[in-house]
Amino acid sequence: MSETSPKLRAELDGIPTYKPGRPAAADGPVAYKLSSNENPYPPLPGVLESAVAAAHNFNRYPDMACTELMSELADRYGVPLSHLATGTGSVGVAQQLLQATSGPGDEVIYAWRSFEAYPIITRVSGATPVQVPLTAGDVHDLDAMADAVTDRTRLIFVCNPNNPTGTVVRRAELERFLDRVPSDVLVVLDEAYREFIRDPAVPDGVEIYRDRPNVAVLRTFSKAYGLAGLRVGFAIAHEPVAAALRKTAVPFGVTQLAQDAAVASLRAEDELLGRVGMLVCERARVHEDLVGQGWTVPETQANFVWLRLGERTAEFAAVCEQEGVVVRPFPGEGARITIGEPEANDLFLRVARDFHKKLL
Ligand SMILES: Cc1ncc(COP(=O)(O)O)c(C=O)c1O
Repeated sequence: MSETSPKLRAELDGIPTYKPGRPAAADGPVAYKLSSNENPYPPLPGVLESAVAAAHNFNRYPDMACTELMSELADRYGVPLSHLATGTGSVGVAQQLLQATSGPGDEVIYAWRSFEAYPIITRVSGATPVQVPLTAGDVHDLDAMADAVTDRTRLIFVCNPNNPTGTVVRRAELERFLDRVPSDVLVVLDEAYREFIRDPAVPDGVEIYRDRPNVAVLRTFSKAYGLAGLRVGFAIAHEPVAAALRKTAVPFGVTQLAQDAAVASLRAEDELLGRVGMLVCERARVHEDLVGQGWTVPETQANFVWLRLGERTAEFAAVCEQEGVVVRPFPGEGARITIGEPEANDLFLRVARDFHKKLL
């Protein structure tokens, strides 16, 4: 028997596997998971019932065209069906966008730090990541990102609001940036946290995309709609891009359970968005309390806050965990803390207060 292992693509060498937020310990006294930007509320009754009904047909493949979901989305956003494509979470759709645009020799630009999947999916595609540091205020440096465009650039991610900082880019600066980007470079507006935005100066990507054929918008049911476990997201993009997404999709990737639950969520939108409203109130409370405690916290429009803790990050995360709150550390940089239910936020604020006192 030969000793050599199968030949794998060299691009995979050194690519880290995606690191999910740690789950809460099952055996501690209290354990709140504030590490994955999930919605703390369980699915609404109508959503649950639709999922249970779909479970009766597990022996069948799902509707590959996601017909009902697509038509619901087309009506809701006022876009043609041909401009829509679904996938296994918006990260699945992002990977399809890379497959459709980028390969060895090409460049993909994104801010850094931003969503940790970008470097992974870029390198898996074989393209070269071009990371443009956030400004000192933890905001996308769109001028520097436009300056980084070369003949090789194929795709640019703009994460709005940015994960993990929660910061946003506003309409005028985004328009100015898009005017500078060549029309053959795809700009992906990743709006995973769109429903949490309350700043009216932050543009809705769906309005921006309409007269810009090189803009694609990514949305997800994982965050505000609370369906992270079902893996369904979608893109709104002009036809050549949306058509390419249908070609690069894993056949039958979006389960019937996910499709039906997504449709039911859209129909239960008032209640769902009421819950989002509560989280937005909690976000304001958490932000204000942290600032009152003496922390510097960037203004956030997402369902999380960012504490730039530098070398103290790992220690902070460990203390939080001991006290029953799991946060998301980025060692050496900072910690991202999801806004959860009020009791979880109270506990986190108490731990943050005690930790900050020790810093002084
Ligand atoms: C900015 C951003 N985009 C996309 C995603 C992916 O979400 P999903 O694949 O669950 O739709 C996330 C999840 O954390 C995110 O933070």
